[in-house]
Amino acid sequence: MKTFAVLLCLVVAGAAFEETMKTILKSPRSTLQLYKQFKAKEHLKFSSKEDRKRFRQFKKSAKLVADLNEHSNTVKYAVNFFSTMSKAEKAQYTGLNITGHFAHKPKLSAGLQSAPASKLWTEDKAVTKVQNQGGCGSCWSFGAIAGLETRYKVFSGKLRKFAEQEYLDCVYEGTANGCDGGWPDDCYTYSKNKRAGQLSSQVSYPYKETDGTCKFGTNALIAYRISGFTEVGGTEAENIAALAQGSLSVAFEVTDNSQQYSSGIMKDTTCSGSPNHAVAAVGYTPEYVLAKNSWGDAWGEGGFIRFARNHHNCGLFQYSSYPSLTGTGYADTNAEDAAADYTPGDNSSSDTSGGGSSTCVDLAIDCDAWMCEYDSLKSIMQEWCQKTCGYCTDGGSSGECASGTIRCSDGVCRHEHMC
Ligand SMILES: *[C@@H]1O[C@H](CO)[C@@H](O)[C@H](O)[C@H]1NC(C)=O
Ligand SMILES: *[C@@H]1O[C@H](CO)[C@@H](O)[C@H](O)[C@H]1NC(C)=O
Repeated sequence: MKTFAVLLCLVVAGAAFEETMKTILKSPRSTLQLYKQFKAKEHLKFSSKEDRKRFRQFKKSAKLVADLNEHSNTVKYAVNFFSTMSKAEKAQYTGLNITGHFAHKPKLSAGLQSAPASKLWTEDKAVTKVQNQGGCGSCWSFGAIAGLETRYKVFSGKLRKFAEQEYLDCVYEGTANGCDGGWPDDCYTYSKNKRAGQLSSQVSYPYKETDGTCKFGTNALIAYRISGFTEVGGTEAENIAALAQGSLSVAFEVTDNSQQYSSGIMKDTTCSGSPNHAVAAVGYTPEYVLAKNSWGDAWGEGGFIRFARNHHNCGLFQYSSYPSLTGTGYADTNAEDAAADYTPGDNSSSDTSGGGSSTCVDLAIDCDAWMCEYDSLKSIMQEWCQKTCGYCTDGGSSGECASGTIRCSDGVCRHEHMC
């Protein structure tokens, strides 16, 4: 009990948006408890020797997350599936091979098309669902395909889920292992030169997370074919003008910080200058550029990330391109594929309350339902995460639980399998 009293005092003495994580990390015993809880949530199991290494990595990541959250008010970070990984394992989730490629120069002499103040292609149901590339450096294939899908929808009226696996297997067939990295524009060149502008549907050629033998599935580029690609000039204004017309394949540098991104508007200042990851830009507002990542929908904002406007964003505007599409004369009459149902939140990271009773709010910014399953920290969670953990007294037991959790029979909000 003594420990809790000390911890509570530390919390109470802290800043307005105290970090629950920071408080927990002050006690080795509590940190270990949190790690156990984290492993249960992520379904992780390690041998005992391995576990010591993973625990060290977890502590490092949790400390980084706590420090970042303490100094940020536009973005929220969280421990996630990257938090127990080694540097090499984390790098496998990227895969941009930038060798031989250079930052695009401005092309401003060409004149800029006027762009509306905002355009979010997710609102037009023109972005397919988020996927996970897994531990294969195939980001380049995901970036190229997400850069294509919205444009095909704009041109043909149909949202199509194209096959990342065709590019992964075929673009470097016989020359390199696609899971070792690649370049998105090589995909468009491959489609143009080797496939007469065509590309398989994903349903006919599913993603396997490993580079296999090149095959063709059912062509899904029906109304338009790929006739090459256009490099976007390397300024933010040129990227926005191009993004107003459809999605872009974009590159940026992933850092330890950005891998722990959870929500809000990211403004990374820790990159070294060499982009290592490809994604697709799928919208913008005056405040941010919206990108679709390939790390599953448990990462970031349902798999998406928002980058600050008027910021370099670790190279984000310097390597963008989009496929050129040429009409085939055929109409695409097939049913559409499923769209992602993402809508961006507002730009403040402190709003974790998610509606409901106005007097019952979380006081900490990093309340996560999985952290509530933790008897020895109950008093801290009651104080700082009362809404997320379901400790509200003002009729709170009928209030809404945080998304992804339900109210168990004891009145506390948890993930369903933990009731
Ligand atoms: C990266 O690209 C260069 C040039 O295309 C190539 O020589 C190199 O083998 C590639 N690296 C990997 C790991 O595939
Ligand atoms: C978001 O940012 C815009 C412009 O910076 C500002 O006008 C608006 O009030 C912000 N919204 C929130 C909820 O902070």
